[in-house]
Amino acid sequence: MEELDDYSNKKISVLSLEKLTLFNVPDEYKYGNCNDVNDYEKLNRVGEGTYGVVYRARHIKTNKIVALKRVRMEEEKDGLPISSLREINILLNLRHKNIVELKEVVVGKRLDSIFLVMEYCEQDLANLLDNMINHFTEAQVKCIMLQLLDGLDYMHEHFIIHRDLKVSNLLMNDNGTLKIADFGLARKFSIPNGPMTPRVVTLWYRAPELLLGSKMQTTAIDIWSAACIFGELLLHKPLLPGRSELNQIDLIINLLGTPNETIWPDLSSLKFFENFSLKHQPYNNLKQTFPWLSQTGIDLMNSMFMYDPNKRANAYKCMKSTYFKEKPLPCEPDLMPTFPQHRLKNTEKRKKQEQNAKDNNEKFDLFQNMDAKNIMKKSTSGSKILVNVSKQSMKDNEKESRSRSLSSSQESKRTKH
Ligand SMILES: Nc1ncnc2c1ncn2[C@@H]1O[C@H](COP(=O)(O)OP(=O)(O)O)[C@@H](O)[C@H]1O
Ligand SMILES: [Mg+2]
Repeated sequence: MEELDDYSNKKISVLSLEKLTLFNVPDEYKYGNCNDVNDYEKLNRVGEGTYGVVYRARHIKTNKIVALKRVRMEEEKDGLPISSLREINILLNLRHKNIVELKEVVVGKRLDSIFLVMEYCEQDLANLLDNMINHFTEAQVKCIMLQLLDGLDYMHEHFIIHRDLKVSNLLMNDNGTLKIADFGLARKFSIPNGPMTPRVVTLWYRAPELLLGSKMQTTAIDIWSAACIFGELLLHKPLLPGRSELNQIDLIINLLGTPNETIWPDLSSLKFFENFSLKHQPYNNLKQTFPWLSQTGIDLMNSMFMYDPNKRANAYKCMKSTYFKEKPLPCEPDLMPTFPQHRLKNTEKRKKQEQNAKDNNEKFDLFQNMDAKNIMKKSTSGSKILVNVSKQSMKDNEKESRSRSLSSSQESKRTKH
């Protein structure tokens, strides 16, 4: 790994997020308990999102293959990006077969050289869909959906909302096990839940309550995204590929009909409701869009696409749907085929697609909701993790979050082969 600077002679200060004062780190603790990134040999680059490059790497001593996600620091003059702190904090607290495992955080000699070491997965679903010659069979779609719902159920039971579910954030290993990844936008919620910034979730997968400015985010926004993924797996192309927020709402209405206060009582109280004049379209067109899908499949999708987030099905209820018990039965994960690895080809294409959506990340709210003491405690392998998060960076984040414009982000269309 490239190493540029050595901090061995420099004093390191840490901001206490509890007292908001700086204190010097004693020399013996300067590099924390983190292992060295040089314990790993970088093999090839497998992905690049907005926040970090991801490499396939080999642990030199054990020969184990892992994924190394480099924390992108270029634009962060004042410390570790909020998205990475979030991802580390949340992943350290989640252990489930359908959630990507964060093994450790390793560092290089430079203070800004920080890597998340994760279990390695051979595929992500975006690349698979882009490159597969044959479509997934319905039995395979059921297998993927059941695993996604299982991971979501666990996550929601642990009070985590992912807030960026989409096919490029779903990984699959050669054993056919699906892993939910990329927790850079995820948030812990409480009951009752406080307000959160509405501009999360990549446009195509964004729930109507977010598009209409609801600040109350619930686990239902992940279920909406999961429904979009369900449709995408069946159709083999994105189900609701909006070009703008307005167009996104139009596409939703084309598919599901115009919402009204009878089916969604809170509708008119949503912040942007007045801004959009919703077009009139009285029909639910799910059956027309998926003519081959059984009634139980349509019912399941309808329950995940309920306009009113309070009525939308939860992950557990979806898993129990009769759809998964009728033929074709879901295949077992280890009977999923293995696929050639195509990832490098499409990285650039997807990066562009996702860039704008990531502009929506609010950074400031980490400090409102995240238990900073917990990060310090839980990131046992990283006493360097909070180094350099200055008071100024918190102020900048606050400024940025307040001044963020409402202009809609445009997604460049993922082209299909
Ligand atoms: N554990 C992993 N194993 C294999 N590939 C991964 C892993 N984590 C991420 N990737 C690849 O890197 C891409 C970007 O990673 P992601 O965590 O989604 O970062 P970003 O926040 O930048 O989108 C993913 O779409 C996937 O292709
Ligand atoms: Mg991602």
